[in-house]
Amino acid sequence: AAVATVTTPPMGWASWNTFAAQINYNVIKAQVDAMVSSGMKDAGYEYVNIDEGWWQGTRDASGNITVDQSEWPGGMKAIADYIHSKGLKAGIYTDAGRNGCGYYYPTGRPAAPNSGSEGHYDQDFLQFSRWGFDFVKVDWCGGQAEGLDSRSTYQAISAAIDRATAQTGRPMVLSVCNWGAQNPWDWAPGLSTMWRTSGDIIYWGQTASMDRVLANFDSAQHPNAQSPGHYNDPDMLIVGMNGFSAAQNRTHMGLWAISGAPLLAGNNLATMSAETRAILTNREVLAVDQDPLGRQGVKVAEDQSGRQVYGKVLSGTGRRAVLLLNRTTSSASITARWSDLGLSGAAAVRNLWTGTDIGTFDGGYTTTVPAREAVLLTVTGSGATPTAGPSPTPTGSGAI
Ligand code: DGJ
Repeated sequence: AAVATVTTPPMGWASWNTFAAQINYNVIKAQVDAMVSSGMKDAGYEYVNIDEGWWQGTRDASGNITVDQSEWPGGMKAIADYIHSKGLKAGIYTDAGRNGCGYYYPTGRPAAPNSGSEGHYDQDFLQFSRWGFDFVKVDWCGGQAEGLDSRSTYQAISAAIDRATAQTGRPMVLSVCNWGAQNPWDWAPGLSTMWRTSGDIIYWGQTASMDRVLANFDSAQHPNAQSPGHYNDPDMLIVGMNGFSAAQNRTHMGLWAISGAPLLAGNNLATMSAETRAILTNREVLAVDQDPLGRQGVKVAEDQSGRQVYGKVLSGTGRRAVLLLNRTTSSASITARWSDLGLSGAAAVRNLWTGTDIGTFDGGYTTTVPAREAVLLTVTGSGATPTAGPSPTPTGSGAI
């Protein structure tokens, strides 16, 4: 198999949503320290991912990337070493094309001509691996602008990563960031760990939008492409950012968990509230996301428009995660039917955000969901014990 093998969706933090290109050693170090002191590391968050802005397109006479030593003393190896010293893993970023995104979209961040890896794949990925990086996100601004073929370009990138790993012994997660171009769910599972399915969940300086969160969630629904080690990526989290209420943060987190999506926090970990921290580190919600079967939750019912039921098959006997999602603008009563979830008889219902066992119910469970929010449950009853593999699309009555 190509690139690093991970068995559950990658969890961590990434610099883009909060800092955009305004990053340097001290900015990242502060987030590393906060990852540990806040309890995020103990909850399972592992990767610290440096996004665009670490490099300004400069190379030495041999073509090796050079960085501004005043911003990154000791170069990128020093920050990777610091991340590792805390028991965490390090992520870095480049573009598949000649220029990075900052060259095309300079608003709010410096332009960066030639800050892509085109023409230097072997050299750059070997360099990242030698510096100690465990994860690389490969963006598509240059690739798109040049009209590169997405699939063959990422194939070449994946192969270069494998060659780098063969030399260094350090595997790297490949995060394909081509925003759904050329249907990556059809080919990226064979060459990467995760692939973005849409544009950005938030743009520099904007406030959080539930419409955007829902659109990104919808774009990532490709259950047949998802299995342990290969994940549809609806983008980094905006939990705790720019204007979302606690209820909106829980809804967003619940959507990513039922999807089995990578969980890369994008907020400022050093300044987050206790409430945000509690949402990001809720063990039962994280367990839904990280379930070892690696299934993607799928829509199993929508009796009335905008009142949706999603089910995710969990490991064990008769266990399902269930998300009741009310996309409408008024509160609504939504029913999870056991038959739609592949369950029969009596089943126990637990609310994961309140941490309460609600009771045991025959046939289904109905509750009121506030407008534009979701309720996240586990349901444990009698049903077939699933096996690992791609997530099937629901058939017939909607049973999973
Ligand atoms: C576009 C990507 O989709 C974002 O996640 C981020 O990496 C920016 N590019 C960086 O410019």
